[in-house]
Amino acid sequence: MLKITYYGHSVFLLDDGKTKLIIDPFIEGNPLSPIKEKDVNVNYIVVTHGHGDHLGDAVAISKRCDAPIIAVNELANYVASKGAKAHNMHIGGGFNFPFGRVKFTIAHHGSSSGEGTYTGEPSGVLVTMSGKTVYHTGDTGLFSDMKLIGEMNPVDILLLPIGDNFTMGIDDAVKAVELVNPKFVVPMHYNTFPVIEADPNVFIAKVKANGFNGKVFNFGETVEF
Ligand code: NI
Ligand code: MN
Repeated sequence: MLKITYYGHSVFLLDDGKTKLIIDPFIEGNPLSPIKEKDVNVNYIVVTHGHGDHLGDAVAISKRCDAPIIAVNELANYVASKGAKAHNMHIGGGFNFPFGRVKFTIAHHGSSSGEGTYTGEPSGVLVTMSGKTVYHTGDTGLFSDMKLIGEMNPVDILLLPIGDNFTMGIDDAVKAVELVNPKFVVPMHYNTFPVIEADPNVFIAKVKANGFNGKVFNFGETVEF
């Protein structure tokens, strides 16, 4: 059993009943967030890149919950310099944690802290918990290696940005679903800011027309897989 909760933007909580892991916890800065930073109680944090709308409240949560931040090396060093616990990894590498496996992938994007510190290459992440593999692509444009990633790591749940401007828009995301070939698709990174307004229902309709399954999560909604 794996429960997945969506907290808006690119924030997802994975919970297998024993371990809670949050990805890209951008909470206090998100006007649409249904929760506050203090509501988050987790064992692990994964951050895909250094931009403020992904690093978000990760350092504060790490300190309060004594939860390590799992990230690529430069970003992990950055959060460690801010007093967070960190587990340094890098793109192409996987590691077997007590709860399951985390593996980083490429993403075509940028990555620096709000202060302008270089925080390594941006990443996507594959998290396998309770027998389910979740692929959170981070912020990225479409790239054909998504096919290889899906072949080498069969994906149960694909979390894809659809907001355009900074990442893929809807039509490129529909193509990404074809390439990754997941069992289930969930859109993210839309409507938080005016420049990333997109209709997630249009995306899911196109995904379903292509023979795939997926769903728009309400902010704060939990689905069990
Ligand atoms: Ni970004
Ligand atoms: Mn972003």
